[in-house]
Amino acid sequence: MAETVFKYEGSTPEQVLAELAAKCGLLLTEVGFYQYLDSQDELAHFRDQFSFPKLTTSPGVECDDAENENCVYFCGNSLGLQPKSTKEHVQKVLENWEINNISCHVMGHLPGITCDNYVRDGMANLVGSSQEEVVVMNGLSVNLHLLMVSFYQPTKKRHKILLEEHAFPSDHYIVMSQIQQRGFDPEDSMLFVKARPDEELIHIDDILDLIEKEGDSIALIMLPGVQYFTGQVFNMEEITAAGHRKGCYVGFDLAHAVGNIELYLNKWEVDFACWCTYKYLNSGPGCLGGAFVHKKFAKTKMPKFLGWWSHKESTRFEMSNDLDFSCGVESYRISNPPPPLLVACILASEIFDQTSVRQLREKSFLLTGYLECLLKHYFSDISDSTTATVEILTPANFSDRGCQLSLRFSCSLKEVAEKMTKKGMIFDIRQPNVMRVAPVPLYCSFHDVYRFVNALREALST
Ligand SMILES: Cc1ncc(COP(=O)(O)O)c(C=O)c1O
Repeated sequence: MAETVFKYEGSTPEQVLAELAAKCGLLLTEVGFYQYLDSQDELAHFRDQFSFPKLTTSPGVECDDAENENCVYFCGNSLGLQPKSTKEHVQKVLENWEINNISCHVMGHLPGITCDNYVRDGMANLVGSSQEEVVVMNGLSVNLHLLMVSFYQPTKKRHKILLEEHAFPSDHYIVMSQIQQRGFDPEDSMLFVKARPDEELIHIDDILDLIEKEGDSIALIMLPGVQYFTGQVFNMEEITAAGHRKGCYVGFDLAHAVGNIELYLNKWEVDFACWCTYKYLNSGPGCLGGAFVHKKFAKTKMPKFLGWWSHKESTRFEMSNDLDFSCGVESYRISNPPPPLLVACILASEIFDQTSVRQLREKSFLLTGYLECLLKHYFSDISDSTTATVEILTPANFSDRGCQLSLRFSCSLKEVAEKMTKKGMIFDIRQPNVMRVAPVPLYCSFHDVYRFVNALREALST
C-alpha cells in the first residue's frame, strides 16, 4: 500500500513515447512502433486470461479480416471482459449446490455462509484499505442508499448534499430520494458543483471553494472518484480534507475508479465509498458491488438498515433476535451472500493480485498516451475543413485521468459509429457526438489502439 514515486513522474506520455520512438528510429505512427511497445509490455500475458469478442460472432460486426480474429474492445469502462476461468468456477459452485444441497452453505467449493470473506483482502488492496473496512454485497446503487442511511443525517441547518451537476443518473436519483425520504426538499438540499460555462471538466478549486462557502449547510459530499462521462479524476484526498474541515461527511462513488486508478481510501480518511465490480474488475453484468467504511467508524453507533447478516458471524445462528452487531462495514450486510456471484468477484480480484494497480497505471500511461498521440496526430487539424476533428474532453494531465478518453467529434457520430462497429471496434457513444474509449491496460494492447485509430481514419474518410 506504500505510495512510491510513479515511474514516469514529471514527464508526459507524449514525451516518453516520442523518446521511445526516437530510440527505435521509428515514427509514432509506424506499425513497427506498436509492435515494439507490445513486445516490451510486461503485462501482455494477462490478455490470454480473458475471452475476447470475436469478429465472427460479435453483434453488428461485418468484416473479413485475415489478420485479426478478435474485436478491439474499448468498453471495459462499462463492462469488463469475461475472465476465461469464470465459467469453470461458477460451474463448480453450482455443482457444490447440486451435490451437497443444504450443506453447500458450509462445505465444498466456496461455502455459502463465508463466501464473501474470501474477496475482502483483494478488494482492500484495490481500494487502499484494510480488509475489515470492505465488504462485497448487493449492487452499487443499493449500497449507496444503505450507507447514506448512516452518513446522511440532515438537520435544519445542515441538510445539503453536494454532488456534481451531471452526476450519473443513479447517483442523482439516489441523492434526490434520500433527501425526500428524510422530509427535505431536493430543490433546497441538492447542491451542485458545476463546470464553468463552455467547459466540461470541473475545476478542483471550484469544488473546494463551494465546500468552504457552503460547508456549514452541507451534511454530505457525494462525488465520483472518476467522472463517468469525461473520465476526469477528482482529487479525493483534498476533497475529503476540505469536507472534514467543515464538518461534512465525505463519500465517493468509485464505479469508474476501482481497478482503474490507485486508491488510498484509508489514508485519505474517506468516510465511505461504493463501487461496482463489473467494469474494471470484470465480475460480470450486474454483479455485486463493493463498499468501504473507514475503520474510525468501526464502533460508532449510526442509524442503519439491518438484517440477520448484520449480526456477528460467531453468534448469528443462535437466532436470539438479540442483535450483536458485526464491526464496522460488516454490519451493513443484510442478506446472506450469493456464491455464484461471489466466485466471479473473487476470480476477478485474484487477477489483480498477480499485478498491481501501479503496474497497470504504468502501462496505461503509455497505452492511453499512445491513443492520445495518434488521435492528435490524425484528427486535430482544425485548418483542414475536409476532415472531422476530434477533441479530447478528458484531462490531458495523466494524474487527472484514468485509462478512458472521451472524444468529442466535429461531425455526427451515427455513421462513423456504424462503420466502426462493422469493423469490429467496440466502444460507446453518448449522443450526439461523444465517444468514450477505454484501452484497459489489463487486457488491451498497443495493436488494439493502432487498429482502432486506423478504423477511425477509414470511417471518417469514406
Ligand atoms: C457512476 C455510476 N454510478 C452508479 C451506477 C449504477 O450501478 P448499479 O446499476 O450497479 O447500481 C453506475 C453504473 O454504470 C455508474 O457508472
